[in-house]
Amino acid sequence: PKMGGSGRVPIEPQRVDAPLTQSATFLVLTINDKDDPDAVKTVRSTVAKTDDLTKNVAFRDLQASFACTVGVGSEAWDQITNGLPRPAELHPFRKIEGKVHTAISTPGDLLFHIRADRRDLCFEFERQLMDLLGDTVTVVDETVGFRYFDVRDLLGFVDGTANPVGPAVDESIIVTQDEDAGSVGGSYVVVQKYVHDLKAWRALSTEQQEAVIGRTKLDNIELDDAPEGKQAAHKTLATIEGEDGQEYSILRDNMPFGNPGAKEFGTYFIGYSSRLWVIEKMLQRMFVGNPPGLHDRILDFSRPLTGTTFFVPAAGVLAGLDSD
Ligand code: HEM
Repeated sequence: PKMGGSGRVPIEPQRVDAPLTQSATFLVLTINDKDDPDAVKTVRSTVAKTDDLTKNVAFRDLQASFACTVGVGSEAWDQITNGLPRPAELHPFRKIEGKVHTAISTPGDLLFHIRADRRDLCFEFERQLMDLLGDTVTVVDETVGFRYFDVRDLLGFVDGTANPVGPAVDESIIVTQDEDAGSVGGSYVVVQKYVHDLKAWRALSTEQQEAVIGRTKLDNIELDDAPEGKQAAHKTLATIEGEDGQEYSILRDNMPFGNPGAKEFGTYFIGYSSRLWVIEKMLQRMFVGNPPGLHDRILDFSRPLTGTTFFVPAAGVLAGLDSD
C-alpha cells in the first residue's frame, strides 16, 4: 500500500494510476433527488460496492487491465459521503470565458471512469452498476472512448506523452497528509468532452498543426517554445510552473470518441491532479490565453460540450461509506 504523507498511515488510493487501455467509458451522473434519504442511501451503498463490482467483472479476464475510479462532485459530496470532511479545493467547475472561446460548466454528482482493454468488460461493469442505481440517477453524459492507432487523438497527434511516470505519478495526483489531512490518498479530476471541427483542422498544413500542438506529428518530437509574448503552442500553455520554477504535472487519460456517420469526432479530456488549481490554471491559460487574447489555437478546432470537477476519495474511504 502507498503511504500518505507522514508515511505512518497506509492509504490505498483508487486505481487513478491505472494504464491507458484500448477502451474506456466516461459516465457522468446526477442524483435525481438529493433530499430523498432512500435514494441517497442507494447511491451511497452502490458507490461503496464499486470494489465488489470491479472484482465481479475484472476476474472474467485478468489480462484486460480492468479498472474503475469513482469521483464525487461538490454538490453531492455531503450527501454521498454522509458528511465526511470536504476536500479543501473542491467546488463546482468554474466557467472560463475567454474572448473567443468558453469553457462551459455542466452538472455532475458522480463520475465513473471505467477502463479495460475489452469493450465488453466496460459494458458489463456499467450494466451492473446501472442496475444497482436503478432510478435514483440521471445520466448527464456517457461517452465510449477507444484507442486510436499509436495513442493518437483524432487530430492525429500522439496524446499523453508528457504524462508523469514512476514516482512522479503519485507526487502529481495523490493528496498528501501535509496538503490536506482530511482528504489524504485522494485526487481531483476534471473532465471535458470536446468535439473537433476536423474539416477545418485538415485545411491546415502539417506544419501549422504542429505549431498548434507544439510537437511534430509523425515522430512526436517536442518543438521549442515560441518567444515570450507570441502565440504559444498547446503544450506550452498547458505547462504550469511554480514560483521556484518547479513544474506541476497532471495525469491525463484522454480518449478519442466519435461516430463518423454523425460527423462526430471528439477527444474526451480527463485530467487527475492532487492540486485542482493546477488544472484550473491550465484551462485559464488555454481559454483566456497567455498573454491574454492569444488563446490556445487547439480551441479553434475543438469545442467543449461539458466541463465538470470531481474528487476521487481514497479506496478505503469509498468502501467505508456503507458502514452507517
Ligand atoms: C499535451 C492534445 C486538452 C493539458 C498535449 C499534447 C496533445 C494534446 C497532442 C502533446 C503530447 C502530450 O504531451 O500529451 C489535447 C487535445 C485536447 C487537449 C486534443 C482537447 C481538445 C487539454 C486540456 C488540458 C490539457 C483541457 C488541461 C486542462 C495538457 C498538458 C500537456 C498536454 C498538461 C503536456 C504539456 C507538456 O508538459 O508538454 N495535449 N489536449 N490538454 N495537454 Fe492537452
